[in-house]
Amino acid sequence: MTATTTATRGTGSSKMVFPDGFVWGAATAAYQIEGAVAEDGRGPSIWDTFSEVPGNVADGHTGGFACDHYHRYAEDVRLMAGLGLAAYRFSVAWPRILPAGAGQVNAAGLDFYDRLVDELLAHGITPYPTLYHWDLPQALEDAGGWAVRDTAARFADFAAVVHERLGDRVGTWTTLNEPWVAAFLGYCSGVHAPGRRDPAAAFRAAHHLLLGHGLAARALRAAGAAEVALTLNLAPVVQTDDGHEEAARVDALMNRQFLDPALRGRYPEEVLEIAARHGGLDHIRDGDLAVIHQPIDLLGINYYNPSFVSAAPGEPANPAFPGTEGVRFEPPTGPTTAMDWPIEPSGLETLLVRLSRDYPEVGLLVTENGAAFDDRLTGDVDGDVAKDRVHDDDRIGYLDGHLRAAHAAISAGADLRGYLVWSLLDNFEWAYGYHKRFGIVYIDFETQRRVPKDSALWYRDVIKRNGLMGE
Ligand code: FCB
Repeated sequence: MTATTTATRGTGSSKMVFPDGFVWGAATAAYQIEGAVAEDGRGPSIWDTFSEVPGNVADGHTGGFACDHYHRYAEDVRLMAGLGLAAYRFSVAWPRILPAGAGQVNAAGLDFYDRLVDELLAHGITPYPTLYHWDLPQALEDAGGWAVRDTAARFADFAAVVHERLGDRVGTWTTLNEPWVAAFLGYCSGVHAPGRRDPAAAFRAAHHLLLGHGLAARALRAAGAAEVALTLNLAPVVQTDDGHEEAARVDALMNRQFLDPALRGRYPEEVLEIAARHGGLDHIRDGDLAVIHQPIDLLGINYYNPSFVSAAPGEPANPAFPGTEGVRFEPPTGPTTAMDWPIEPSGLETLLVRLSRDYPEVGLLVTENGAAFDDRLTGDVDGDVAKDRVHDDDRIGYLDGHLRAAHAAISAGADLRGYLVWSLLDNFEWAYGYHKRFGIVYIDFETQRRVPKDSALWYRDVIKRNGLMGE
């Protein structure tokens, strides 16, 4: 694939064109948008339980209603079609399909995704399902969650059930979304469900998530899946002083703990050494790494910002990064989003180029990139009709910058196949509840009205041109 930059004569500007067939889309996740948590036989997930505990989620918000996408999916697909999306990444709620995590299949749950996939295809949009975006059935957590090995096998069973129903219409299957977050925010810092604070359990969870990925990839492949993918949260780790060991350590924990087993069949030495000090390594059995190291077609990359670290002797470990004693995580110094995350588009270029260099056998897809800002409806009305807009120039700037970085990475040889913006809709942003708006479409949560933001209209034009105008 090639990316081109052509000067447009007379305008003094140049056009950045993406390769033919570049996949443009948007992403969401089940618990963040669906609502309808007690409908049609869905069982409880760890996020239902966690968000009901006061203090876990801002203002006691839960995903109970969210964007009501479960009922409004057809309207949402029409919105996507209006924006010209070629791809839609969503996740399948495990507790809708297997309410107790294993055993009895709930046909009504499968029916929902069946309808969604048909609706997408009828509008010319390719479905990109993710099988695990953090909503573990509560029954499995009660049996030990990802800290126990059996959960990996149950995940592969779930993958096979979903494939059996949708495999005739879905080509690309993503196993996990961000296993680092599921393991270390869920089982170590406890800011995500299930809210445990146990470093040993977190390393076990990470391994069992990877094992679940391998087992599910194998099951999907055996059932005839055309493409199998794994999505990781990845970020360059930049050391702000003269050292490099601290950045290398954080890189091993955050990035290579997942990249290397999945794509090279081994753990980084630093990770083994740290995990050994936090509960030992007896959960890693002979043959596991061969299972985890399944050939995959696509690596999904969720990129938001780089991490900045420095050496700080005496500093205790970061609660989400056991093993980071003596490392300071530096606060951002430049511009930030409403999450206080630094805005650093060049990090995406660095990351994509590195991945294609270090793991050349796998194609790359940006499965999430985007930003939360304090969006406001303009409040415009025309007669009795709301003509509300959302002028989110800051989001347009963020997306534009990151797409330029992606384009530069392709020009430098990265095998990037597509870009999915996070997110299609404002949604339940985990521990932040509904306060952080990442959507290119605004949701009025009181009325469930959808209002495409200026960024959505801008993105529609990017897709139409397959690129960006000007510099
Ligand atoms: C990612 C998650 C996604 C969303 C964005 C902002 O870590 O995968 O669900 O919360 O961050």
